[in-house]
Amino acid sequence: MFEHGGKLRAASGQFGIPLSDWVDLSTGIAPIPYPMPELPASVWQRLPEEEDGLLDAARGYYGAKNLLPVNGSQAAIMALPRLRAAGTVAVLFPGYGEYAPAWAAAGHGVIECTADEVLQKNADVIVLANPNNPDGQVFSREALLAAAERQAQRQGWLVVDEAFADVDSGHSLAAVAGTEAAKNVIVLRSLGKFFGLAGARVGFCIAAKDILNRLQDLLGPWPLANPARFAAKVGLGDTAWQINQRAYLCQASARLAALLRQYGLAPKGGTALFQYVPFQRGSEGVAALYTHFAQRGILVRRFTQPAALRFGLPDCEVAWTRLEAALRGAKMEKARDGKNP
Ligand SMILES: Cc1ncc(COP(=O)(O)O)c(C=O)c1O
Repeated sequence: MFEHGGKLRAASGQFGIPLSDWVDLSTGIAPIPYPMPELPASVWQRLPEEEDGLLDAARGYYGAKNLLPVNGSQAAIMALPRLRAAGTVAVLFPGYGEYAPAWAAAGHGVIECTADEVLQKNADVIVLANPNNPDGQVFSREALLAAAERQAQRQGWLVVDEAFADVDSGHSLAAVAGTEAAKNVIVLRSLGKFFGLAGARVGFCIAAKDILNRLQDLLGPWPLANPARFAAKVGLGDTAWQINQRAYLCQASARLAALLRQYGLAPKGGTALFQYVPFQRGSEGVAALYTHFAQRGILVRRFTQPAALRFGLPDCEVAWTRLEAALRGAKMEKARDGKNP
């Protein structure tokens, strides 16, 4: 099974550090979440209703007409492969690790492709995240639309996961996915990252009506709980908060990139929510550095193939200070051992 970040309890047990003492940088979830107002009692008591305003809020925020709320974009990642007969699927690698197993489990032949290959691949379905997780690779809107057109000629799909596209949506296909111009484009969005509401499990699938109808049939009634619908509706409609959040995340990610650079871990890519640091020396160096941070109560995300660390954003000044101290310590150890990352 694909390993996710955010496993603080496991890290706490492994490194013998109490849960409350950790700085969790292992995810791409905004460290400051949308401030949820108190939920009315009816939200808990009543069954979800489609006309509760969520769809309008989402249409306004994404600029999209046809969308289906799902139980986290993960629910769509798992279900979409079951809407097609078995075929070939080009999946971006390195990328989010949930796509390949989901398509393979539904009987499709999965081909892992580099960023240079993926949009050119001769495949029934192309799946990628834009920007990509973990390396922040961005695909231009033009390149995506050209690939979508090629896919349309073979009744193929282009699936674009825009989980990290909220801060800079310049290359987003959300407004065109499923329209006449891009009928075979499916866009996935998440409230887990920018809104910091990963626990609410809210995502959207934006696609042509017939695809959404089939997805809805597969997922069944009430894919989203009422508290999650309520949370999403208020967050998606709060433009003032979104403007502040964008500014805050941009500033924090620039600060993180500069800090990593200062201590010899220059990021090779990233988004407003994380920075990606690949390692030439392979997974040994990554493991040592991961452990160095973890022993100081800082959980980062480790990748072995290719070897890399991913850093999320610290949530307060104390966390920034602790990260800097750990980076300084790592740099001193490296200098002592005569090694470079
Ligand atoms: C690229 C990408 N897509 C989708 C997801 C799943 O998001 P959600 O919480 O909406 O299921 C993640 C979670 O880490 C992700 O990184």
